Amino acid sequence: MDDTIVLRTYGLAKRYRRRWAVRNLDLNVRRGEVFGFLGPNGAGKSTTIRMLLSLIRPTEGRVELFGNPLTRRRRAGLRRIGGLVERPDFYLYLSARRNLEIIASLRGDNSASDINPVLETVGLSTRAHDKVKTYSHGMKQRLGIAQALLGSPELIILDEPTSGLDPQGIKEVRELIQRLSREGRMTIFLSSHLLSEIEQTATSMAIINQGRLVVQGRVTELLASGENIVRIETPMVDNALAVIASSGLATSAHVVGSMIECSMPRERVADMNRLLVQANIPVHALVPKRSLEEFFLSITEGASDK
Ligand SMILES: Nc1ncnc2c1ncn2[C@@H]1O[C@H](COP(=O)(O)OP(=O)(O)OP(=O)(O)O)[C@@H](O)[C@H]1O
Ligand SMILES: [Mg+2]
Repeated sequence: MDDTIVLRTYGLAKRYRRRWAVRNLDLNVRRGEVFGFLGPNGAGKSTTIRMLLSLIRPTEGRVELFGNPLTRRRRAGLRRIGGLVERPDFYLYLSARRNLEIIASLRGDNSASDINPVLETVGLSTRAHDKVKTYSHGMKQRLGIAQALLGSPELIILDEPTSGLDPQGIKEVRELIQRLSREGRMTIFLSSHLLSEIEQTATSMAIINQGRLVVQGRVTELLASGENIVRIETPMVDNALAVIASSGLATSAHVVGSMIECSMPRERVADMNRLLVQANIPVHALVPKRSLEEFFLSITEGASDK
């Protein structure tokens, strides 16, 4: 992975009538990442993805692909990406191969030569001559990914690629994504409403809720096991920070407004409190905030299909 940003959004927003589906969204996706875009139902994932793929126009903000703005004259950037939006549409009475041939000819490039390798990649070679109407849901989903892979894109954007699949289908798609990421040096952006799925496939992630970005960063850092964010309120911020730093109890500590936020294992919180009090630092409050995982579960449970 390098630090080149392949996809960036600035203040991206979409309003439908009076309701904002997406607000002020700043995303940064680096080359080679599997970027998980996580949010409960109705959070704004599909709306964002449609804007990234230039299928709908943002109300505000902009998208940059490979360092260039995505504008109406957008073909150059879009050629380098492949997309799968929710349920892919195929001609059900035609074979998978024929469907891909049609898509390749619409693209007007030489992506027809990719059809065999792409069918191989998604494990549909032996069924490529069967009509799509005879396909299982998982096979259609894999055909959707095959379609996104035509033209050897540098970036693929997949909207809930495992939605509606059974556990075996989910595992197959997950392994496919991991393989594409390993072998292809491809950047993969995928959305999901399941934290476990993002945890297993993604290297970086963003959480979106009610159209707004909640958090963004590397998965390992955001989900560090057993870590809690602890907020300490004290009038002696600088002294407290020095005690915390020398204690070695916290993984990280920084000042937020008039408080200190530490990331630390839960079982060390009591020791930290004792050290601060022993150093004559008044602690007005010491609040373990929820872990990211608990936070995500709470917003997922609270969300409903709107
Ligand atoms: N074409 C549209 N017209 C009006 N409102 C829309 C439209 N598309 C989406 N919305 C609204 O925008 C919000 C975000 O929807 P979106 O489909 O982006 O969510 P999502 O995160 O993809 O959800 P899900 O997990 O259910 O797919 C919802 O409140 C939805 O009702
Ligand atoms: Mg959606």
